[in-house]
Amino acid sequence: MTTIQQAFTADHRACDETLAGVEKGLMAKAGAETDKAFARFRVQLEGHFSAEEQTLFPALEAVFPGGSGPVSVMRSEHAQVRDLCDSVQELIERGEFARAAQTVDLLFSMLQSHNIKEEQILYPMCDRFLQSNGEQIARALSQLVPPTGTS
Ligand SMILES: [Fe+2]
Ligand SMILES: [Fe+2]
Repeated sequence: MTTIQQAFTADHRACDETLAGVEKGLMAKAGAETDKAFARFRVQLEGHFSAEEQTLFPALEAVFPGGSGPVSVMRSEHAQVRDLCDSVQELIERGEFARAAQTVDLLFSMLQSHNIKEEQILYPMCDRFLQSNGEQIARALSQLVPPTGTS
């Protein structure tokens, strides 16, 4: 059976790859293509965040009522990532590709530090404590957006 750890870690890598494509496009100043790639990244990332916010986090909070420290940190990091995505979007729309590329770099580091915490702490907790709830796990997995390849 696919574990939360395996599926969500693979999805982190898939999102990273799409974001790397965005960065490549920015370097080449390929406006329309970059816009498309960034839109795809946001759909992928929103699918991932939704699966965490709507399914995994509430499931963990139900197992550990009152002990939701790591979950609330993850939620606030999602908000920071979304804000940074808005900034990248605006910069791409204004054709400010160099500044957009710098902001994508920042987005990359922010996501890496967020993802490491999830992969080392949160997902192992999910696999350990949600084992008996196959339905919740299946729902979380179904919310992930499959990558559509890179271009
Ligand atoms: Fe997350
Ligand atoms: Fe994640």
